[in-house]
Amino acid sequence: GDVAVVVPAAGAGVRLGPGAPKALRLLEGEPLLVHAIRRTASAPSVRMIVVAAPPAEVEAVHDLLAPVAPVTVVAGGAERQDSVAAALAVVPDDVGIVLVHDAARCLAPAELFERVAAAVRDGADAVIPALPVVDTIKEVAADGTVLGTVDRSALRAVQTPQGFRAGTLRAAHAAAADSHTDDAGAVEKLGRPVLCVPGSDFALKITRPIDLALATHLLKLSE
Ligand code: CTP
Ligand code: MG
Repeated sequence: GDVAVVVPAAGAGVRLGPGAPKALRLLEGEPLLVHAIRRTASAPSVRMIVVAAPPAEVEAVHDLLAPVAPVTVVAGGAERQDSVAAALAVVPDDVGIVLVHDAARCLAPAELFERVAAAVRDGADAVIPALPVVDTIKEVAADGTVLGTVDRSALRAVQTPQGFRAGTLRAAHAAAADSHTDDAGAVEKLGRPVLCVPGSDFALKITRPIDLALATHLLKLSE
């Protein structure tokens, strides 16, 4: 493999409700992070994995993942981008391609990692998996008045893993002054092109309790 995968897993999971940090919550008896790392490690392109864990859970996460795959675990930060930066900092300079993958997208299949990595290998600086938006999208004022209907055909819902030439991701993070919700966003701010490849329904992000229910079902379909 020629790819390092950085896995931000340090979030609290506030929208999932009270409980352990999200990456350690259980899906069919196993932590989301175990599901995520098992799939990440099964992608043939993957050479190394760096997990950004909740700072209080670094040791526990190391022990949890040791039987699953060889991983490096670092302490994450206050914001997702801080966690990505902390993990990126330990990726060796000789790794040419870096993927960033949310632990919360724990059912993203190996094929998706391969699709994203292949597009970077083929010359793209930054690659994101994306799906068409299925709902009609409205722009709405604070008082609930509809301002207009957005042209959905030009919109995409974006997932991870997102793939980058390593130098591009490092430059984007170094330059990022304000916050960004995804790493491609920081690359866009550098003015560099970002390419979409088809996403996967299995790469949904577990955010709310309903997503855990959905993932329980998807898990049965994927195994
Ligand atoms: N993440 C992280 N460090 C943070 C915040 C988020 O590594 N300081 C990670 C999460 O663990 C998750 C991914 O970034 O794998 C996507 O974030 P999100 O879905 O928002 O997870 P949480 O921040 O944990 O959830 P919430 O926003 O509901 O608290
Ligand atoms: Mg969050």
